[in-house]
Amino acid sequence: MISAAEIHVAEQHDERVLRRANLYQNPEAFQKRLDRARTLRDASKKSRKKKPAPFKWLTLSQKQQLVLSWWTPESPVCDRDAIICDGSVRAGKTVCMSFSYVDWAMSCFHDMNFGLAGKTIGALRRNVITPLKRILRGRGYKVVDRRADNQLVVTKNRRTNTFYIFGGKDESSQDLIQGITLAGMFFDEVALMPESFVNQATARCSVTGAKFWFNCNPAGPYHWFKVSWLDKLREKNALHLHFTMHDNLSLDKATIQRYENLYKGSPVFYKRYILGLWVVAEGVVYDMFDDEIHKIADGALPNRFERYHIGVDAGQTNATVYLLIGELRGKLYVIREYYHESKAVSKKDSDDEEAPSKGKAPSEYAADFLAFTVGLNISNILIDPAGKWLRTELEKKGVRRIINADNDVLPGISSVQVWLTEKLLFVAESCKNLLREFGSYIWDVKAAERGEDKPVKKFDHALDALRYVVYTLFGKKRASVHGRVVGKSVASSIKL
Ligand SMILES: Nc1ncnc2c1ncn2[C@@H]1O[C@H](COP(=O)(O)OP(=O)(O)OP(=O)(O)O)[C@@H](O)[C@H]1O
Ligand SMILES: [Mg+2]
Repeated sequence: MISAAEIHVAEQHDERVLRRANLYQNPEAFQKRLDRARTLRDASKKSRKKKPAPFKWLTLSQKQQLVLSWWTPESPVCDRDAIICDGSVRAGKTVCMSFSYVDWAMSCFHDMNFGLAGKTIGALRRNVITPLKRILRGRGYKVVDRRADNQLVVTKNRRTNTFYIFGGKDESSQDLIQGITLAGMFFDEVALMPESFVNQATARCSVTGAKFWFNCNPAGPYHWFKVSWLDKLREKNALHLHFTMHDNLSLDKATIQRYENLYKGSPVFYKRYILGLWVVAEGVVYDMFDDEIHKIADGALPNRFERYHIGVDAGQTNATVYLLIGELRGKLYVIREYYHESKAVSKKDSDDEEAPSKGKAPSEYAADFLAFTVGLNISNILIDPAGKWLRTELEKKGVRRIINADNDVLPGISSVQVWLTEKLLFVAESCKNLLREFGSYIWDVKAAERGEDKPVKKFDHALDALRYVVYTLFGKKRASVHGRVVGKSVASSIKL
């Protein structure tokens, strides 16, 4: 006996057949239908993304060749448990290490979990995963990127392994890594990760034959990675390779020269990022600031600017600073400053004629802001992310275009240094607080002994306001893995 449901299905089928038959008898309707189908097909073809071209390897340097082969059975160092590649920027460490890591994992294991870590997941994806996928696909690997799960599933020759993606500074990664068993871990820019994360991750590598892969640019000599790994190579059974830009044969002479120029204004960063040395950050932070070059008479400022920006450092117990910064043809000019100490300071601590001064109410600071910017069309106001009280007050007064600044101190400092070195940042003579801070802002020697890079948190309010604008608006366009500024000359990269 035929059921009611079966009769319904049969009737629907007949109806469809009939509709189709009618269509064939009506050539106009048929043509219309065909055209629509073609349009839809073309649109879907266009919207389909073009496959990225496979990665083009250029001649590998000897060190890169060693990175690619150190783990193979023929290698005299195949029994090492770890490889560490440190050294200068753009030296070709990441590109060959990340590929070698996956190649090793796929040659030695099947159905295992591995870890790939960067400072953050975003940085890792941008700097490592994107080129890595192109390299792997060019080498016949099948790569499925499960973005939602932060996993890459890699297959070749009927072997499949899963690579979990972690961010050393991402909280979500801290939880995820706790419960996992890994056969290897790759750390890109390990010196930018907390030691606790690296210890967690290495402790998860309990599979026999597991290896650790590290790369980084140097930091200070007391940095935890230098002390715990580089200074204990024998104990860790680790292979150490020191890279410079000359180990990346894809860079031409002019490019190497450009990078050298970029850092030549700062002895510390030159030693670290060009020579690849673990040296302490000491002395004046902005030692490349030169009155002769960077300080200009107010009368010598350009008459007009393409855009104006304001940097705001908000202090309830410290100074509140507004800096008016004009942008013109790829250069930045600090035109004038507002600087108010919120607490009484003695003449001894400040040669500001207005000191000592009393604190002001938030509404007074907001009123001062309006007076400071009166008549100007301000494109962006970059405010200290901790200055919510002032932001709220400014918004109450109708001030718009306020952006929370990126307060990542080291990359921010490096960004300002590059602008100074490239002679693209100038300060009007009347900004006396900012000018004074340039001379007194120093690296913290005590912090350096603990392996940390940080400036002494004193006399830094105007410099913070400057850093907010320079780094958040301009530096980050060119930020690399670590947020350090690298790349083309600043002038050519500014989008006006
Ligand atoms: N053998 C090569 N063939 C083609 N391109 C290469 C080769 N070696 C390096 N490169 C390219 O050089 C650039 C720098 O390489 P990579 O990112 O690996 O350097 P790095 O040492 O990790 O730099 P950083 O310290 O700044 O992160 C990249 O664009 C990379 O693709
Ligand atoms: Mg790198």
